[in-house]
Amino acid sequence: MDDGSQNRIALVIIVLLACVSITALLIAFSYYCYITNKLAIRLKSNKGDDYEDQVSLPDLRVSADKGLQVFTFKQLQSATGGLGKSNVIGHGGFGLVYRGYLNDGRKVAIKLMDQSGKQGEEEFKVEVDLLSRIRSPYLLALIGYCSDRNHKLLVYEFMANGGLQEHLYPISNSKAVYSKLDWDTRLRIALDAAKGLEYLHEHVSPPVIHRDFKSSNVLLDKNFNAKVSDFGLAKLGSEKAGGHVSTRVLGTQGYVAPEYASTGHLTTKSDVYSYGVVLLELLTGRVPVDMKRPTGEGVLVSWALPRLTDREKVMSIMDPALEGQYSPKEVVQVAAIAAMCVQPEADYRPLMADVVQSLVPLVKQQKLVSSKSDHIRSPVAQDPVKAS
Ligand SMILES: Nc1ncnc2c1ncn2[C@@H]1O[C@H](COP(=O)(O)OP(=O)(O)O)[C@@H](O)[C@H]1O
Ligand SMILES: [Mg+2]
Repeated sequence: MDDGSQNRIALVIIVLLACVSITALLIAFSYYCYITNKLAIRLKSNKGDDYEDQVSLPDLRVSADKGLQVFTFKQLQSATGGLGKSNVIGHGGFGLVYRGYLNDGRKVAIKLMDQSGKQGEEEFKVEVDLLSRIRSPYLLALIGYCSDRNHKLLVYEFMANGGLQEHLYPISNSKAVYSKLDWDTRLRIALDAAKGLEYLHEHVSPPVIHRDFKSSNVLLDKNFNAKVSDFGLAKLGSEKAGGHVSTRVLGTQGYVAPEYASTGHLTTKSDVYSYGVVLLELLTGRVPVDMKRPTGEGVLVSWALPRLTDREKVMSIMDPALEGQYSPKEVVQVAAIAAMCVQPEADYRPLMADVVQSLVPLVKQQKLVSSKSDHIRSPVAQDPVKAS
């Protein structure tokens, strides 16, 4: 073979090798493109999954609760006749309360959160979570809730006789029918409410301090059984700066324990004080603060306290609506409990368990007397007065 043909063979080999290398490179590059493309698609779809999870996770967390129903805003709108005015049954610190009917025919009370409060979704869920875990016959049950981006609603069992205060004295802008409660009924309400607070303080861990115990948060069913309400909501207002909900932070005027008002120091004994004020309302039928009354009578606790431990004087503070229909012995006992609850020194106030223990025998006695005389528990005078 001459030099010329050798060079030609070498050139062909080089060209061939170059072609093979280029083809291999092209194949490798295409394969690389194919793989990266596939990875990109997989990553994209995984990202989608993550996103889905993030959206649905908070809902899952709450709806996993025992027995709580999750409603859409539409469902609750149709339950309340489009949140119509005629279905409004009350107006509290958190907004309007509506009467409603669920699909299964159950009557419920629906609380619509005031949007001006700008309640954080997470905070709302914490409250729902708390309320869903706390169950007692003496606490108002939460049935469900609606929590979408713009609407926060809570659905409670319906209490046919509304708030206790509506039965003790007429409330302005309340639609409730004012009926006077007899002594037996008042004693039973006092015991039920005491059991509600006892549950929060002693059967829940960590204890729940109500912070806003008052007669409008003692609700009455059709048989005048009492349940304590708003024990979870009391915390909701705590983050709000200023505004009308500041009453939530410090409770409601006339019910707030002096040490809580002055130092902000909150214990279960602050609730005991507020409970004492409600006992005074049950005894006297008076509003906790009423500056239209003569000098010295405006603040219920200050007016009543010196009279509570005097057997003669205590009869003079009793609600005239009772028309003397009570056992003086029982009145003296209840007045003594009230006096201990509202004393300024928090440490000397009783525990709610002590209050329950003191009231149980009184209600038991009532039961014995009732069954002997076949007496039916009811308000004394069915003389309905429409509150203005
Ligand atoms: N579950 C319920 N059943 C019937 N009536 C209710 C219920 N919850 C609240 N109400 C009525 O709505 C009123 C306002 O309630 P709420 O918003 O808790 O206000 P407040 O700050 O006075 O406690 C109550 O006084 C009561 O008449
Ligand atoms: Mg309330």
